[in-house]
Amino acid sequence: MLKDDDYEYRKGCGYLGSFFLYRENEFAFCCVAKTVALNSANQTITDAIQQWGLHTNSLIDDIKNQRNCVCTDCHMLSDGYWVKSADLYCISIDSDNKDDICNFGCVYCFAKNKLNNFNVNENKKTALSLLLEISKISYLKQKNLFIQLSNGEPCANKDADSIFDIFNKTNWSLVLNTNFSIYNKNLAKLIENGKVGKIITSLDAGTRKTFKKIKNADKFNDVLNNIEKYPIHKTNLVLHYLFIEDINDNMKDIKGFYSIAKKIKSRINFTSDLYRPYTDRMRVLVLWVIKKAISNDIIVGCTEYVNRQDQQFINYTYKKLKAEFDEKNKAKLKGANKK
Ligand SMILES: C[S@@+](CC[C@H](N)C(=O)[O-])C[C@H]1O[C@@H](n2cnc3c(N)ncnc32)[C@H](O)[C@@H]1O
Ligand code: SF4
Ligand code: SF4
Repeated sequence: MLKDDDYEYRKGCGYLGSFFLYRENEFAFCCVAKTVALNSANQTITDAIQQWGLHTNSLIDDIKNQRNCVCTDCHMLSDGYWVKSADLYCISIDSDNKDDICNFGCVYCFAKNKLNNFNVNENKKTALSLLLEISKISYLKQKNLFIQLSNGEPCANKDADSIFDIFNKTNWSLVLNTNFSIYNKNLAKLIENGKVGKIITSLDAGTRKTFKKIKNADKFNDVLNNIEKYPIHKTNLVLHYLFIEDINDNMKDIKGFYSIAKKIKSRINFTSDLYRPYTDRMRVLVLWVIKKAISNDIIVGCTEYVNRQDQQFINYTYKKLKAEFDEKNKAKLKGANKK
């Protein structure tokens, strides 16, 4: 567990020094920059984590000493208290493993090509074998790690039950990226037992028709039913809305989407197809949601895939309107107390 002393005030981001995405021949230290090649193709995970630590620490050093590096112009950099040196916090398993599949075909999906092109005989690890390997390393098994599953549709994986079971035997917390169309009893139990830190679902629509158009799957009602069926009050469910021009940038979908988020009081994150700028119409819709959300005590933010300008627009608007709302409420309360 890190102490106050382990942090320093500088430019940084939530990934650098905390996040590790492992692949057989490379690793990533965030979801924004390109991956880094590992020293050798058959490196063990422990070696890979060591290489990640050295690489990450040298980036932290570059940032502190204002040397140009891959982070220099990144839209995710901000002033704040960040770790002084690399300390693994989250391991992410993305769609790069044999057996990864998905039951949807989202029009925007950046993993679609990979998911459709796995050679069955490819000598790759599976998400399960990878997690088992990591869970055998005793210091990692005992560490309070977040394991992020983002591999195809994790609930459609043939090993889903065995994968979820690993969380019963480790100190890990699950961060699950899921389309939420599949109900899995073991996942429900994990949520119930407080082992799921966060669930992220990209809903992207507020109507069945638009959902089907974007996801190539007529599963809107299944997702809504699962939101009711899973014990989501025992975790943090975040609903994403990825704007696609002329498909879901309309009031009907936004209103439908917002009413779902309001009902379950979930955080809303706006997102974009890999940094594609928002149109004026999208900004009007974002503003509508922010105003409603503030009055219903719902947090609105955005993902790392939103470009700097739109990210500033969303975060600044939310912060400003929230402060105004809180100020007005305070004044009202004062007035009421005087009476
Ligand atoms: C690749 S999916 C895998 C997990 C799961 N199937 C799901 O949809 O959550 C992980 C996340 O990547 C996001 N994503 C996929 N393609 C994207 C793109 N082109 N731009 C931004 N986000 C994208 C999805 O919305 C989802 O939240
Ligand atoms: S490139 Fe950006 S998101 Fe990635 S570690 Fe650097 S600052 Fe963070
Ligand atoms: S559900 Fe996830 S993995 Fe499947 S196509 Fe959509 S974004 Fe891609």
